[in-house]
Amino acid sequence: MKILSIETSCDETAVAISEIEKEKIKILANIVSSQIKLHAKWGGVVPNLAAREHVKNSIPILDRSFKLAKIRPKDIDLIAVTQGPGLIPALLVGTSLAKTLSFVWKKPLLGIHHIEGHIYANFISESQKSLVSIHGDNRSSTQGGKVKNQIQTSIKFPVLCLVVSGGHTQLILMKKHLQYEIIGQTQDDAAGEAFDKVARILDLSYPGGPVISEQAEKYLKKTNQQLMVSLPRPMINSKDFNFSFSGLKTAVLYETKKNHTKLKDKKYIQALSFEFQQAVIDVLIKKTVSAAKKYKPKTIMLAGGVSANRELRKQLGEAIKNDLSNTKYCIPNTKYSLDNAAMIGAAAFYRFQKEKIKKNFNKNWRTLQANANLKME
Ligand code: KG4
Ligand code: ZN
Repeated sequence: MKILSIETSCDETAVAISEIEKEKIKILANIVSSQIKLHAKWGGVVPNLAAREHVKNSIPILDRSFKLAKIRPKDIDLIAVTQGPGLIPALLVGTSLAKTLSFVWKKPLLGIHHIEGHIYANFISESQKSLVSIHGDNRSSTQGGKVKNQIQTSIKFPVLCLVVSGGHTQLILMKKHLQYEIIGQTQDDAAGEAFDKVARILDLSYPGGPVISEQAEKYLKKTNQQLMVSLPRPMINSKDFNFSFSGLKTAVLYETKKNHTKLKDKKYIQALSFEFQQAVIDVLIKKTVSAAKKYKPKTIMLAGGVSANRELRKQLGEAIKNDLSNTKYCIPNTKYSLDNAAMIGAAAFYRFQKEKIKKNFNKNWRTLQANANLKME
């Protein structure tokens, strides 16, 4: 079946067209137009500006997707769209477009939870070499052509998924497809949000994750350095699987107030970035490993924008190898770590298979509503 998917929950306008049959997925088009440059000067995403950009970009991107995929609207079997959570003005653009297309083209329509999409990014695995991919400096990317990808059959349930994005930090247990039990989550800021806020304190650009990890890597490359800062690892020893990152951000703020004269010192910023990133990684790994020892998953998965972090990917992999040698480790291709529409299409495929028998999705254009606080079911 061919799925058209649309994602506009935050600051990326994304459209994908996928062809999925049994165990095989072909991504016929996957376009992400990032608004990072626009929002960077405000230090974060401005919802109404984001919506205006989505309105401007979504139809040209839709048009380009069909050209790349070399198919016509009549070939589409299902339309999928991010229903929530996210910024309501931004979500409304994607859902309105999807509802209109569903009504005009008479195609079934499915609303997908954004985090479900991030999780299902793991099910798209592909041969990097055969990709036709162009990455612009504003993370606009386009890929097309006949690329055959396998849905990862090596993912065995139960799965323990560490979701780390700009809005979520959760440990989710999945006993089977589309079944989620949240066993732990942040009590305040999400991990990505902490990266963004700390970057702002350090006068680095938005979004914070990539710049902080870049600074941390610079620190790592220099050997024989005495670490000049030390930050707390909040809740690392608590018996539950919850997280807290707000205190860590405040600790960075106090540290910089104490040493404000050093803020122009590159080495200090690099050391502080390294220590902050490591504090986040230490807590994430400790909780994930403890949860895995209790719930004994067959697979541990990483999902969400922070899963693009190279050190987190590496160190979680090492911890699993050392402490949980029988557990498989699965990470999304970095292209699918950050917001994109291909992940929404992958999740929609599974949801459609499960629910099409009992539900008729042809009239969803009438009822589907964007929901900023949508819960995972
Ligand atoms: O999943 P995502 O693209 O959007 C949401 O659903 O929130 O995640 C965005 C978050 C931002 O907070 C960004 O700073 C963070 O992911 N991020 C990273 C990295 N790349 C993006 N955090 C740490 N290291 C990175 N390399
Ligand atoms: Zn996201």
